[in-house]
Amino acid sequence: VKASLRRTLALRFAATMAVGLLLATGAFYWSASRALQESISPAALRGDLVLVLAAIVVAGTAATLMGAWHFTSSAVRPVAEITAQATGIEAGTLDQRLVAHADTEEYAGLVAVLNRMLERLERGFAAQRRLTADVSHELRTPLTALRGEIEVALRAPRSQREYEHVLRSGLEEIERLSELSEDLLLVTRAEARLLSLQRVATDVGDLVTDALATLRKQLEEREISVTRSFDRDPETVAVDPQLVRRMIDHLLENAMHHTPGGGTIGVELQPLHPAGVRVAVENTGPAIAAEHLPHLFEPFYRTDPARTRGGGPGLGLALVAAIAHLHGGVARVSSGSGRNTRFEVDLPTPHGN
Ligand SMILES: Nc1ncnc2c1ncn2[C@@H]1O[C@H](COP(=O)(O)OP(=O)(O)O)[C@@H](O)[C@H]1O
Ligand SMILES: [Mg+2]
Repeated sequence: VKASLRRTLALRFAATMAVGLLLATGAFYWSASRALQESISPAALRGDLVLVLAAIVVAGTAATLMGAWHFTSSAVRPVAEITAQATGIEAGTLDQRLVAHADTEEYAGLVAVLNRMLERLERGFAAQRRLTADVSHELRTPLTALRGEIEVALRAPRSQREYEHVLRSGLEEIERLSELSEDLLLVTRAEARLLSLQRVATDVGDLVTDALATLRKQLEEREISVTRSFDRDPETVAVDPQLVRRMIDHLLENAMHHTPGGGTIGVELQPLHPAGVRVAVENTGPAIAAEHLPHLFEPFYRTDPARTRGGGPGLGLALVAAIAHLHGGVARVSSGSGRNTRFEVDLPTPHGN
């Protein structure tokens, strides 16, 4: 058990005072009894007493000063140590931890709190660094492809058709790049809370219907059937329709991408208590390995980093989580053998709208 700083200081101070008072009382007793024994004249006795008392005051003050100085410096020494160590920690050395001699409860608590803060900062910085590296990587790949195609096309005269082909595939790369930068902007602005929601009364069921309509052809081609279960209460909820539509698009695209041909996608809307809506999208198909589940909503996280089966850059679910957070809600995933992969997003609404 760590000693309490307050108790230690109080006890030491009381002990010093006790010793001082004992000495003072002793000196006083000694001089008074000597004076009585030797029957000194009252005038001489008074002079002696004044001298003894003055000596006690001077010596006592000096002793108290020294004692207090010693105690307080031992009490604040860890503060100086913590300050010196904390001063040395910068963005590049966030892996350092404070190791001050914190042998009292109060300082041990302070050091622990500061170290936990450093840990959170370190994790945040690492995530930022990873994000920057991922962004650079994602930008480089399409740019390299674009450049290669243009260089090859310029090497010799080409037919109109060939130029058209190059321009078309170039345009595709550019579209992918702008989609990437838009998604990225949304994710980072949402994380930094730079985005404000435009909540309006929205029929989320309509948003799902529209989103499914744009995917109908692809769903039919792969013979994927869709089941819907919309709880019609409440009819509309105050959410940001544009963002929620993007969220639904991403969830449905993912479900479609991972459902084997002939599989099923289920979409559910449920009222949330006390107010809001829960959007759930689930699909048949192979389960997501448990080790991936905690990371799925991180930007650029993919279960298949090589992207052997196509797929996006890994921003879709980060966007879903960001949109959920903006609404004050959460996004969850569950998956396992014998179960459908299910994504659930809670979109609560304030004031019971
Ligand atoms: N319905 C799903 N079934 C299985 N895996 C999924 C599903 N939805 C997402 N995933 C996995 O989660 C990862 C992240 O998804 P996402 O953020 O949308 O990125 P992207 O679709 O761009 O790869 C993907 O790599 C994918 O493998
Ligand atoms: Mg996706």
